[in-house]
Amino acid sequence: MRNSNRQWRLKQRPVGEIKPGDLELTEAPKPIPGKGEMLVRNIYLSLDPTNRIWMSDMEQYMPPVAIGDVMRGGTLGVVEQSNAEDFAVGDIVMPGMGGWQDYSIGSAGGPFPAQKLPKIPGVPLSTFMSALGFTGATAYFGLLDLGKPQPGETVVVSAAAGAVGQIVGQIAKLKGCRVVGLAGSDEKCRYAVKELGFDACINYKKENVAQALKRECPKGIDVDFENVGGEILDAVLANVNLKARIALCGLISQYNAKGPVPGPYNFTNILMKRVRVEGFIIIDYVPRLGEFAAQMAQWLMEGKIKDRVDIHDGLENAVTTLGQLFTGGNTGKLLVRVSPEP
Ligand SMILES: NC(=O)c1ccc[n+]([C@@H]2O[C@H](COP(=O)([O-])OP(=O)(O)OC[C@H]3O[C@@H](n4cnc5c(N)ncnc54)[C@H](OP(=O)(O)O)[C@@H]3O)[C@@H](O)[C@H]2O)c1
Repeated sequence: MRNSNRQWRLKQRPVGEIKPGDLELTEAPKPIPGKGEMLVRNIYLSLDPTNRIWMSDMEQYMPPVAIGDVMRGGTLGVVEQSNAEDFAVGDIVMPGMGGWQDYSIGSAGGPFPAQKLPKIPGVPLSTFMSALGFTGATAYFGLLDLGKPQPGETVVVSAAAGAVGQIVGQIAKLKGCRVVGLAGSDEKCRYAVKELGFDACINYKKENVAQALKRECPKGIDVDFENVGGEILDAVLANVNLKARIALCGLISQYNAKGPVPGPYNFTNILMKRVRVEGFIIIDYVPRLGEFAAQMAQWLMEGKIKDRVDIHDGLENAVTTLGQLFTGGNTGKLLVRVSPEP
């Protein structure tokens, strides 16, 4: 294993898409844990659309990453040294925001306390970064708390073959809904329908989305789990039912925007159809993560939820791999393998 710590640091705020030179890979000595702390070797690094938000200085839900700081990111790793009570060498942990680096320092306190992970038979470690992690929790709380899907209703989910979308559609099926996905390729649509059990999936790059939604949602849309925004949200708004719910999870079509973006043209339908649109950020649900984890672990063990992860090797490739989220290169949860599992 390494004796130094490679770290991706934010060098300048990207304008539009992330470009080579916006972040730089630096090298520092391996960190030394203090009292109550542990040294964690990072195994998996989560890549998320919100990484792009954190790189910008737009209005957001957390402070942006400061220029010169190590890039923020969720990690899973193994304890290599421990001065922390209840954590031993060899424990598998999520050290909070371990960041884009080989090693991080975790502790049981602070804003992001380290969590020891249980061993669940048949469940790979990477699942803790996906269905059993914040990704799955986002799908679970956004759909169930905000979308409140009822049996027989129609649920639409955009970025349907992505990390959050794949879980949303499967939970909606478990709740007895008709599920229609939107995704950017025929292969992703095939995955959503054939492997995940969606009722239909629209390749938004090939079809007029508003017309395709009309065809695939003959009774209209009751719940929209919105991951994309822009033209896709407009097409949804053209097809919503009275009292529809829109769980506003993300607006990925706008994260690389260089300036103001147009608002939805079909905004009036929110009024005419008495639609409830509610944004949410998963960190608000941290107190309820236990409830989610128990249910999701059960669904996974019963084979009721499938979870695809898209793993790319090498911390050095983190920036280019992140770009896949914005070109649609990933299917399922995008991760970087920073170092091997023990
Ligand atoms: N509110 C929260 O707490 C929270 C938490 C986690 C994630 N999120 C949000 O949830 C959304 C999905 O995140 P994720 O981690 O699951 O990512 P993901 O879906 O695994 O990856 C992003 C996908 O978005 C699609 N996409 C990218 N640019 C697009 C565009 N211009 N138009 C249409 N589709 C586009 C691509 O799929 P296609 O090939 O289908 O285009 C891409 O694969 C994001 O908006 C993210 O910000 C919110």
